[in-house]
Amino acid sequence: MQKLWGGRFSASADSFAEAFGASITFDKRLAPFDIQGSVAHATMLGRCGIVSQAESEVIVDGLKRVRAKLERGEIEFRLSDEDIHMNIERYLTEEIGSVAGKLHTARSRNDQVATSFHLFMRSSVLDLVEALAEVQRQLVEQAELHGDVILPGYTHLQRAQPVLFAHHLLAYAHMLQRDVERAVSLFGRVNTLPLGAGALAGTTFPIDRKLTAELLGFTAVYENSMDAVSDRDFVLEYLSVASITMMHLSRLCEEIVIWTTGEFGYIELHDSLSTGSSMMPQKKNADFAELVRGKTGRVYGALMSLLTTMKGLPLAYNKDMQEDKEGAFDAVDTLLGSLTVVAAMVRTWKVRADAMRASAAGGFTNATDAADYLAKRGMPFREAHEVVGRLVRLCIEQKKTLLELSLEELKSFSSLFDDDIFEALALETVVSRRTSLGGTGSEAVAVQMRSVKEFLKSSQAWMDKVGPVVRASEGA
Ligand code: ARG
Repeated sequence: MQKLWGGRFSASADSFAEAFGASITFDKRLAPFDIQGSVAHATMLGRCGIVSQAESEVIVDGLKRVRAKLERGEIEFRLSDEDIHMNIERYLTEEIGSVAGKLHTARSRNDQVATSFHLFMRSSVLDLVEALAEVQRQLVEQAELHGDVILPGYTHLQRAQPVLFAHHLLAYAHMLQRDVERAVSLFGRVNTLPLGAGALAGTTFPIDRKLTAELLGFTAVYENSMDAVSDRDFVLEYLSVASITMMHLSRLCEEIVIWTTGEFGYIELHDSLSTGSSMMPQKKNADFAELVRGKTGRVYGALMSLLTTMKGLPLAYNKDMQEDKEGAFDAVDTLLGSLTVVAAMVRTWKVRADAMRASAAGGFTNATDAADYLAKRGMPFREAHEVVGRLVRLCIEQKKTLLELSLEELKSFSSLFDDDIFEALALETVVSRRTSLGGTGSEAVAVQMRSVKEFLKSSQAWMDKVGPVVRASEGA
C-alpha cells in the first residue's frame, strides 16, 4: 500500500516492521480529538486564506462525516496507515477526494499528535476533578450522617486517642482537595495549544495560532515551537497527580480492608462491592478495596515509564514519544475506575458505631487525658506521664480500664486526682475537649466540614466554567 510519505521510499515496509512501528491499535482512542483538532486547523487555514474558504468548508464537512461514521462504528482502522492521524486522513480522502490533502498544510504529525493528546488529557483532567469531587461529597455525607460516632485514632496501628469518625473521613476529603487543586493547576498547562509548531520549527504559511487556540477553547499557545512538539510534561503531571491520588485511595482502601475484618468490624461493605470465596462459605472479602490498592502500582508504573522514556530525548520529536500513550490511557482508566469504586463503597457501607466505640473504650485511648488532667493541676507533664503509665500497668494486670479504677486507687497514685476525673476520662469528654484548630472536637470538625463544603462549591463553579468549553468543543 502506498504510504503518505511514499515519495521518498522505494521498498515497502515488511509486515513485522509495520506492526512494530504502528500505534493505531492504541491511539485509535484519540480519534475524536484528532478530528476536533483538524476541524479547528482547517477552519483557521480557510480564515487565513491559506486554503480557499470553499476548500476549508469541504474539509470541515468531510471531517464531520468521518466523525459521524466513527460514532456509528463504520470505521475500520488499518495497521498499514500506522496511526490514528493517517487513518483519519485516509478516510477523509475517501470522503472528499484529493482536497483532503490540503488539510495537512502548515501542519506536521508532530504538532498534530501533541494537540490530540492535549485535548484528550484536558478532557481527562475534567473527568478527574468531577470524580474526585464525587468521592469528597460521599465522605462529607458519611461524616454528617455519623457525626457523633467515636472510633480509636491510631498511630502505628495501635490505638492512640479517640477521634470522631467524621474527623477521620474528613482527613481524606482534605487529601483529595489537594488532588483537585493539583488537577486544576495542571489544567492550565494542559489547555495550551501546540498546533502551529509544524514539525519543530514553525511554518512559512501565514497561520494564526491564536485563532486555532480560540476555536479549540485553549487559553494559551506554546510560545516555542520546539518545546511545543517535544513537551510531555502535561502527561507527566497528570500521571503525578494520578499517582498521588491513587496513593490516597490506596490508604483509604487499606483502612477499608482492616475495618471490614472480623477483628475490627467497624464497617460492612455492600454485598455488591464485596465477594465470597469459592471454597470458604463464610467469607466476605473486600476485593474492590484490595484491587484499588493493587492498581496503584500500575499508575506509578505509567509515571516511571514515561519519565524514563523522556529523560534521554534530544529536541525535538523522537519516535520514542509514541510510547507516551498506552500508560497514560491505562492510568486514566484505572484512576477514574478506582474513584468510582471508592465513592460507591463509601456511599453504601454500613457503619458499625458500636464496634468503633467499644474499641475506642479499650486500649487506654484516654491515657493522655489522664496525664493532661494531672499536668493542668500543676504536676510537670513528664511526671504525670509516668504516673499514668503506672496506672495503665495496674489496669492491664487487673484487666480494667482507667474508668473502672476507684477514686481511692487513683488517689493512691496522686492526690491531685478528684472525682471530676471520671468525667474527664469519658470518651465524649476526651473527644469534645480537643477544640484546637483542626482537632477532633465537634466544633473543630464542623469547621473542617464547612471548609470542605466551601471547596466543593468552588470546584463545582470551576467545572461549570470549564466543563462546557471542554465538552462543547469536543462535539464541535
Ligand atoms: N504516532 C506518532 C506518535 O504517537 C505520531 C507522530 C509521528 N511523527 C513522526 N514524525 N513519526 O507519536
